[in-house]
Amino acid sequence: MTTFDTTTWTRIEPPARKVKVSIDGEDVIVTEGATVLDACRQAGVDTPTLCYGDTLTPVNACRVCVVEVEGSRALVPACSREAEGGMEISTDSNRVRKSRQLVLELLGSSVNLKLAGMKHWMDRYDADAGRFGPPGEPAGAGERDQAQPGHHHDVDGATAATVTEPPRIDNALYMRDYAKCILCYKCVEACGEDAQNTFAIAVAGRGFEARISTEFAVELPDSACVFCGNCIGVCPTGALMPMTEWTMRQAGTWNEEEQTITRTVCSFCGVGCNLELHVQDNKVVKATSPEDHSVTSGHLCIKGRFGWEHIQSVDD
Ligand code: SF4
Ligand code: SF4
Ligand code: FES
Repeated sequence: MTTFDTTTWTRIEPPARKVKVSIDGEDVIVTEGATVLDACRQAGVDTPTLCYGDTLTPVNACRVCVVEVEGSRALVPACSREAEGGMEISTDSNRVRKSRQLVLELLGSSVNLKLAGMKHWMDRYDADAGRFGPPGEPAGAGERDQAQPGHHHDVDGATAATVTEPPRIDNALYMRDYAKCILCYKCVEACGEDAQNTFAIAVAGRGFEARISTEFAVELPDSACVFCGNCIGVCPTGALMPMTEWTMRQAGTWNEEEQTITRTVCSFCGVGCNLELHVQDNKVVKATSPEDHSVTSGHLCIKGRFGWEHIQSVDD
């Protein structure tokens, strides 16, 4: 009987099937399983996204990426909807533009978007966040943590509700400024199943009082947080920030235009995580990790993200 050494066989997969969709009247062919957002990108259509991340599971939280699909009653989130053969997709219809405009206005009226890099989208959709009135009273420290589901304040009709509250600084490594939080869930995903599996943070509360919180709103050092900083890595608005960056921004010395980014390998262990060292005035000011690296997909542990100060003189 002939015997075969199957360990040397090469597995041949069937070729991936393709589907054809129409984006604003142009035919686009994508691999089966691709999303509408993938198809839009392939067609060169710039689609705004906030809660979507290439390394995270889509949560459909922000709805700024919506498109119109022929035959679909509701607008469709491009970031999570799978492209199906024959779909006729409009990315710039009046309905899409109005929807994106309102999402941006509601966010802009209630959240500090200074570091979110959304100005070009605000301009593109003519979003006027000021039309709901000036921001309402900011909350005091810890006040939003006390909000009870179902107990809402009456609106005054003259000011725009805001999530403004004082920044939270309770440890030496990173700070949280939830006045800049758009509740995109990315940090929760990175802390949970998409990367860290620590589950130190989650969304607490309901409606406008929904907020990112540790268990029982305890300070970070008393929570399950292991200070990997993966939540910082995915936050799109600067709500989460290393203390080095925060301190320099407060002092007016943070200057991204002057910074260089050097890619290297973390030396703490043998895993091989890639680091991007952000250097300003010959000093490391922040460490990140490239999303396209197969070992980390942009994520790190506490040592890689924060353990670089030993390479600098204490006098610096
Ligand atoms: S630093 Fe890491 S463990 Fe702590 S909240 Fe962020 S993702 Fe979770
Ligand atoms: S803290 Fe940042 S990542 Fe987390 S929900 Fe808010 S904006 Fe998103
Ligand atoms: S980016 Fe698609 S729902 Fe947020």
